[in-house]
Amino acid sequence: MMENEKLQVLLSKMTVKQKVAQLLQLNPFYFEADRNEEQITGPMTDLHVTEEEIGLVGSILGVPDAENARKIQNQHLTTDPNKIPLLFMIDAIHGYKTIYPIPLAMAGTFNPAIVEETASMSAYETSTQGHHVTFSPMVDLVRDARWGRVMEASGEDVYVNQEMARAFVRGYQGPANELHGNQEKIAACVKHFAGYGMVEGGREYNTVDLSRKELFQNHLPAYEAALDEGAKLVMSAFNLFEGVPVSANTYIFRDILRERLAFEGVTISDWGAVKELVYHGVTGGKEGAAELALKAGIDIEMMSSCYIEYLEVLVERGEIETAILDEAVLRILTLKNDLGLFENPYRGLDLENKELSEEHLDIARRAAEESFVLLKNDEQTLPLNTEAKVALVGPFAESDDLLGGWVIFGKRDETPVLATKFKETFTNATVVPTADHQTITDAEIAEAVAAAKLSDSVVLAVGETSDESGEASSRSNIQLAAAQQKLIKAVAEVNENITLVIFNGRPLELTGIEAYAKAILIAWFPGSEGANALTRVLSGKVAPSAKLTMSFPRAVGQVPIYYNQLPTGRPVDAADADAAFASSYLDVANTPLYPFGYGLSYGELTITDWSIANTQLQKDEAVSIEVTVANTGTTTTSDVVQLYMNDPIAAVSRPIKELKRFHKLTMAPQTTATITLTLLYKELGYYDSQTNYRIDAGELHFTVGFDSAHVSERKTLTVKEGS
Ligand code: GLC
Repeated sequence: MMENEKLQVLLSKMTVKQKVAQLLQLNPFYFEADRNEEQITGPMTDLHVTEEEIGLVGSILGVPDAENARKIQNQHLTTDPNKIPLLFMIDAIHGYKTIYPIPLAMAGTFNPAIVEETASMSAYETSTQGHHVTFSPMVDLVRDARWGRVMEASGEDVYVNQEMARAFVRGYQGPANELHGNQEKIAACVKHFAGYGMVEGGREYNTVDLSRKELFQNHLPAYEAALDEGAKLVMSAFNLFEGVPVSANTYIFRDILRERLAFEGVTISDWGAVKELVYHGVTGGKEGAAELALKAGIDIEMMSSCYIEYLEVLVERGEIETAILDEAVLRILTLKNDLGLFENPYRGLDLENKELSEEHLDIARRAAEESFVLLKNDEQTLPLNTEAKVALVGPFAESDDLLGGWVIFGKRDETPVLATKFKETFTNATVVPTADHQTITDAEIAEAVAAAKLSDSVVLAVGETSDESGEASSRSNIQLAAAQQKLIKAVAEVNENITLVIFNGRPLELTGIEAYAKAILIAWFPGSEGANALTRVLSGKVAPSAKLTMSFPRAVGQVPIYYNQLPTGRPVDAADADAAFASSYLDVANTPLYPFGYGLSYGELTITDWSIANTQLQKDEAVSIEVTVANTGTTTTSDVVQLYMNDPIAAVSRPIKELKRFHKLTMAPQTTATITLTLLYKELGYYDSQTNYRIDAGELHFTVGFDSAHVSERKTLTVKEGS
């Protein structure tokens, strides 16, 4: 590995133009590469870059495969006089070629180990195709199901978000962060810094207005966790913070990211975000945009050309100090060096290809099985008897749209459909697919009804398509399409044993159809092995064990709805509440249809006892909470013990409940287990309005349960001394 001094020497030999080119990131459309529409992940506008500049560019995103990566790197090393290798980046968000469930589903596993395993598999496949960085994980806290990008998030909880951020980064970069010596690992780019999850109205690319207190309390912790694990890059968000676009926001990038979080890695703009400063109305043109973004601390400009067109002259005129340019370039050179690119610009390309290998499909299958959320299972409708006559009906019965919204290289036509796997296990199954998910003909409904009449039970495979969630896919209506609701109702009229298997990238409003089903299984977008995994769960080979990390609303009008809300001055459940003037809706309850942390299994665990070991806590002591769980049933069962905290009196209003720890257990029948959950003193505090972190002396309340809405009686911990 090169010494830092050698990088300094290299930097000192570079011309300003060469330095600025290191800050430019283009996609393969500017190179002699095979390319297709799928690699375009943002608007393609004409960039003003010359052939010479393309020859000097620092990084590239979205190269299609190893062959092109090799070709482009080869070519680049002949055009760059300093022979600085190109850095290849990609959106491998939930797998590369072997696709695992969308991140929102993965978070619901409440199992960081499987998240790490899938991320590690993704890193491997990504590296073998010549990429060095993935634009993942997205750690934005989300509360609005209308926003399509919730599929990329870990949900509405700060702690889950932190744990998943850590797991993804460990999986990509390896626990020791030894990217140099380990070509199977790649660098993680955590995004979208910061606050992007709060877009108003859930509308993509929209305005955000967030207080500093909220930013510190709810949004930064997952970034801190990712950086603590060693994440190498941070991507800027498209939104504003306090009126200033994040990509030009010195407070966000310099004061918080560099100073407070002590981040030393590379920052990158989101696609076109530097040029978009003009549209935000904070500068009159691209020159101003370049100046604002670099000064704010954005090192790489992705897919717009403000830097390459204007930085040279800005530096020449003294409007930007060379030192600011140099620090950005040095960070990029350092990342290339950390990855070992100076020694081997073809890093990863010679690794054995394991795409869709048995080993990787096995990981994808296990991840999918652990990500399905069982919302309802009346009369133990599931698992289904494999001998029974089951009708598999609906738009997703034969759909290959199982991979999800953030997939560039996974192939739908290589993905087994549900019907194929289902028929292998359920030998008496009848399959009645519909051609579309929005338009279902009367003839199709009649055929489904006829099959349902002749069957013991019906599995309705319904949902939204993968392009209805993800980037640029916000929706104001989050119900199933009207035609699917009609289909469900028609089938339910002739057969009451209905299981809904729902494919979705976001919490849906299921109120109108939930009563028609005895069982509801949320499949999300389950990836390459989705059909297999679903069949194994429906047949009882494996039991569901996932939990929601985002509340499912009763009505879209409740959104944003999240469990860790603040108290109101007029709570509906106060002893002296005057119903007419309490905080509520006239037409819907305050509660969600299915709450955070909720999800059933085929068996049931019970918490039989729990206690706080030390109810008086001195400064810097840890608190231990013991929970005893029993499986009194007849089947091996998994569930997630959840520990919630409430700080009843603080300088700022604190959430009625916040998750502090979780622990997933798998228990054999007729066994008990005791787990210990330990919280550190420093984890018991909060941020006040001045963004000071404080821990107050006084009482804290704890509860435990298997979901956020059904918890034990509270127990009290007294913190003896604040700080
Ligand atoms: C996008 C996204 C970002 C992604 C990037 C590169 O527009 O917002 O998440 O990583 O472009 O494709």
